[in-house]
Amino acid sequence: MCGIVGAIADRDVVPVLVEGLKRLEYRGYDSAGLAVLDDGRLRRVRRTGRVSEMEAAAREQGLAASLGIGHTRWATHGGVTEDNAHPHISFGELAVVHNGIIENHDAQRARLQDAGYAFESETDTEVIAHLVHFHRKQGLDLLAAVQAAVRELTGAYAIAVVGLDDPDRMVVARMGCPLLVGLGESENFVASDVSAIIQATRRVIFLEEGDTAELTRDGVRVFGEDGQAAEREVHVSDVSLASLELGPYSHFMQKEIHEQPRAISDTIEAVIDNDAFGPELFGADAAEVLAGIEGIKILACGTSYYAGLVAGYWIESIAGLPCSVEIASEYRYRDAVPHPRHLVVTISQSGETLDTMEALKYAKSLGHEATLSICNVPESAIPRASRLVYYTRAGAEIGVASTKAFTTQLVALFTVACTLAKLHGRLDPETEAAHIDALRHLPGSVQHALNLEPQITAWSERFAPKANALFLGRGVHYPIALEGALKLKEISYIHAEAYPAGELKHGPLALVDADMPVVVIAPNDRLLEKVKSNMQEVRARGGELYVFTDADSEFGPSEGVHVIRTPRHVGVLSPIVHTIPVQLLAYHVALARGTDVDKPRNLAKSVTVE
Ligand code: M6R
Repeated sequence: MCGIVGAIADRDVVPVLVEGLKRLEYRGYDSAGLAVLDDGRLRRVRRTGRVSEMEAAAREQGLAASLGIGHTRWATHGGVTEDNAHPHISFGELAVVHNGIIENHDAQRARLQDAGYAFESETDTEVIAHLVHFHRKQGLDLLAAVQAAVRELTGAYAIAVVGLDDPDRMVVARMGCPLLVGLGESENFVASDVSAIIQATRRVIFLEEGDTAELTRDGVRVFGEDGQAAEREVHVSDVSLASLELGPYSHFMQKEIHEQPRAISDTIEAVIDNDAFGPELFGADAAEVLAGIEGIKILACGTSYYAGLVAGYWIESIAGLPCSVEIASEYRYRDAVPHPRHLVVTISQSGETLDTMEALKYAKSLGHEATLSICNVPESAIPRASRLVYYTRAGAEIGVASTKAFTTQLVALFTVACTLAKLHGRLDPETEAAHIDALRHLPGSVQHALNLEPQITAWSERFAPKANALFLGRGVHYPIALEGALKLKEISYIHAEAYPAGELKHGPLALVDADMPVVVIAPNDRLLEKVKSNMQEVRARGGELYVFTDADSEFGPSEGVHVIRTPRHVGVLSPIVHTIPVQLLAYHVALARGTDVDKPRNLAKSVTVE
């Protein structure tokens, strides 16, 4: 959460910083701010609300400079106020932007207050500004002052610092939060992610845990945690500008829903090209790591956790291996019993979700050596901490509500299940060929499901005035009901809950009346008859049913029962196809309610706090 960007150049960097902050807004949108060094003055503009409001203020004030830092905030310590907005300044001389959480900020605040520092905000970040200033005043140069300050901090941070006495440098540091340096021609940049600086450069260095770096116009020096100069590889980013633009769409969520056929086919390209499942899909030493695996433990949060739940069904039924799926924030704080021959799979779109990262570290500390990450962001923290990785190729996902990341995670996890099955002698050549064929046809089926949009839009008008909704599913489609409910509550703010359909009669049925729309995922599988019985239970209590079923199921509309037919049942990959309608439903209900679809209230895309 929170995005940071910085630039040092021979030109005015304010437009670069503003553009960068707009691209980082998905990380938080409570407030935005800039600090620049302009002709011997440290100038700052901050506004609560969106970057565009801060941009207007910066324009009004004629802000222009060749060195500056910017921030977009998701509030943690301190409310959404201008005083709490970054950058934070110490004694009018030194400015800091920060992503992360400083855990020992109370102790440091007390110490700095004793040393004469007055605090203007409730943030943990202001501690960093004063601490660097304190060390600067002890005679350290800016780099050494930042290095001394971060040694005294515990917690997670990515920071960028500029100071009045240092008009030709910026110092940055990271621990636990992403930060990369962009290399230009006589200009250099820093950002939380490459999208923020892609218009200026594609050449980037991903800073490592504990790194600090000094940026001047002519160069970048990186130092490791031990303070010694360090060599870091220069990567050339292949993120496309088009993937960061809306194009003909109204919202990123809409664009990302419609990108799913392409995202899925990109993600499974290697499987289709090889015409086989195999450990090499997960990294060079995958055969060695996966050999002897006797079970799977999946750790993730939010939508990624629901992808894990689907995978649990697949892994047990296809590979015949026990699989447990757990919410990362729960696992990391319990006395888990490790199983050394279990593969720990973390799933994360961003690759930087703190709870998932910490759960992975905890699993490793318990002795789990076999680790696999399913991730959408190359070089992010979670895959870097894992022995094996499968990158989903969804492209940049900017809408806060996860859509294409989820369906690409599912195809990646299906590949995991099939590969484990093959390694355990449970995938005969005919079944392997059938599964690959199913994957090959999947983008087409997803496209057919997308074509249902007009019918789903018609339903959304009926949902928009509702206060609550229930989602039901059974078996491998129960997690899709969970995902549908999460999408709806996340972007439309309608209270929605999901249950396994068979569980309804054990309590939630008491909620059902004529005002409660009940969405049912009812594919034409072996559980359809069971689901139909559960639907009768709803109808008998006056509940209105909105059913997504398959074209080949003999199930039609009746009074109080609305039906939309997805394409013919696609077998084992059916949960992926059935995800599309619930995404579209949430999107269109949110549109009808006039909410901010891409930036729902109180949320942010990357959750790098507990
Ligand atoms: O980046 P991650 O996949 O680790 O994120 C996990 C969740 O924060 C994320 O899926 C969240 O639930 C989405 N906003 C749901 O749409």
